[in-house]
Amino acid sequence: MFVFSEHVNLKKERLMCGIVGYTGSREASPILIGGLRRLEYRGYDSAGLALLGEDGDMQVYKAVGKVANLEDLIKDKNLSSGTGIAHTRWATHGAPSTINSHPHQSQSGRFAIVHNGIIENYAVIRKRLMGMGYTFRSETDTEVLVQLLEYMVTNRGITDTVEAVRATLKEVIGAYAICILDRTRPGEIILAKQSSPLVVGVGEGNSEFFVGSDASPIVEYTKEVIYLEDAQIARIVPGQPISITTIENRCVQPHVQHLEMSIGSLEKGGYDHFMLKEIFEQPQVLRDCMRGRVLPSRHSIVLSALSSHSEVLTHAGRFIIISCGTSWHAGLIGKQLIENFCDTPVEVEYASEFRYRNPVIRKDDVVIAISQSGETADTLAAMQLAKEKGAFLFGIVNVIGSSIARTATTGIYTHVGPEVGVASTKAFTGQLTVLSMFALALGHLKGTITDGFYHEAVDELYHIPDKMEKVLEEDARIADMAKQFTYARNFLYLGRGYNYPLAMEGALKLKEISYIHAEGYPAAEMKHGPIALIDADMPVVFVATQRHIYDKAISNIQEVKSRKGKVYAIVFEGDENVSKVADFAIKVPVTSDFLSPIVSTVPLQLLAYHVAVNKGLNVDMPRNLAKSVTVE
Ligand code: G6P
Repeated sequence: MFVFSEHVNLKKERLMCGIVGYTGSREASPILIGGLRRLEYRGYDSAGLALLGEDGDMQVYKAVGKVANLEDLIKDKNLSSGTGIAHTRWATHGAPSTINSHPHQSQSGRFAIVHNGIIENYAVIRKRLMGMGYTFRSETDTEVLVQLLEYMVTNRGITDTVEAVRATLKEVIGAYAICILDRTRPGEIILAKQSSPLVVGVGEGNSEFFVGSDASPIVEYTKEVIYLEDAQIARIVPGQPISITTIENRCVQPHVQHLEMSIGSLEKGGYDHFMLKEIFEQPQVLRDCMRGRVLPSRHSIVLSALSSHSEVLTHAGRFIIISCGTSWHAGLIGKQLIENFCDTPVEVEYASEFRYRNPVIRKDDVVIAISQSGETADTLAAMQLAKEKGAFLFGIVNVIGSSIARTATTGIYTHVGPEVGVASTKAFTGQLTVLSMFALALGHLKGTITDGFYHEAVDELYHIPDKMEKVLEEDARIADMAKQFTYARNFLYLGRGYNYPLAMEGALKLKEISYIHAEGYPAAEMKHGPIALIDADMPVVFVATQRHIYDKAISNIQEVKSRKGKVYAIVFEGDENVSKVADFAIKVPVTSDFLSPIVSTVPLQLLAYHVAVNKGLNVDMPRNLAKSVTVE
């Protein structure tokens, strides 16, 4: 994991499905349901839970759709039990259905399992077990885990459950975070993890244990947590210390950490949606991101990752940025920042493309992985490939302790706090802030920017949050404008230079939450194709805050206008010309070109948000999307 001198916060990890577990003297079911609710933001299609009574009686309930459906299903049942596991599912193998929902039980009903991740060799195992008379109920990859476990106990005669789990896991290939209940062992939950996160909350004196696929279902009960590492198997029983061993049967000393995450940071804080809350908290979180790093009194930037690895970073022959989605857009802006200030070539690649070709990596290449969640499967795999080829790995990550943070040799946390809305907002501006700090500090260290430019740029960066606050004051106007766009079927977003990736990010925001087709294009490319689409029904969002290409922006806007397109422009305060030709203009405070994307992205976020709200859509949990994509 990369190390920081200036942080101690532990925040949560994310993944598509959600896991909750509890064992102790309280009623398990309300804790499980409450925990599933906290994990709802991930995006899911069904939910389920299993409860284990003191007499070994096991009850399993599952419901398609929201957690509320599961809650309805169990409300009249007699569920007195202090041990249980629960799950929200996001289908990977097998359609969303009650049968495919977790928990899955073994053939005899002895074991129940919940699982996050993917078992890659499930088909082979399933065929083998079916050949031996095992019957499968679901189409999931998960069911092979629980049936294989039963096979280990009944056919191979392994009596100890942990041993049987160990033998099972030795046969599977893939990613998993699992919780298992065994009817012959009331009170006990067995956990294991490989590539998918799993956290255990420890109650006072080991009297009770909470389990989560991230810490959010746990923090309201305890702040003492253990993050399981890959290839570890844990056994939790109330009143006994947690026992952790590896798949190779080595004992592991548990490492208990104190979480500083507050429940408040997971709530909507009075906003209608997490996304809106996260848009509005950007000025504050960017101040947090810069705290202790941007030093206004010295007009300089201090980054521990840079000081401790200055040799590698200043001598990098090339930076290769790998990321996905919004983080990829941040990477495209990062490329321009680093090339402008550090005079080092930068390539930006989708992690999913990078990992499946044979990229040329040279000895002096530095790979920068950008990720909000730190769990994106493609980014992680691309890093591993780069590592094998000898690249130095640098991470720009939000979630502390996440897999990408642990894989990188060094890096910079964005420190923007948990991001719950599926459409990324504050994580993006946090990434841009980190990339700006990095490029300026490295450029200064290399001597590729002057002292004067550096000091001025640092001061300006420091005041960016104040400028964002001014843009947020425009919210009501943007909401008003959004009304006119709500029924558009297509949108074009245009920008040049730093604003081109921003145009793509604006289009992505709109697509993600309002389901309107939108494309981001470099403005000058419009005439090579997209111009054919422009008519009176096609709103065009133009980010026109780049000074040296301002005149060109005006001619592009005129091209749109002459084809009856509606233009929504983002311009600097004081602008006269663009505002005159555009149908609507949002003015943002003047700032340097290289920092303007941080400010100009705010109206794009708000526009997408209000359009989606007007359409009555689920802004925080858009259809088909997940907060963190931990499968390919
Ligand atoms: C998903 C999310 C996006 C995010 C992308 C990359 O698609 O919905 O908001 O940009 O994954 O995720 P990462 O966590 O690696 O930044």
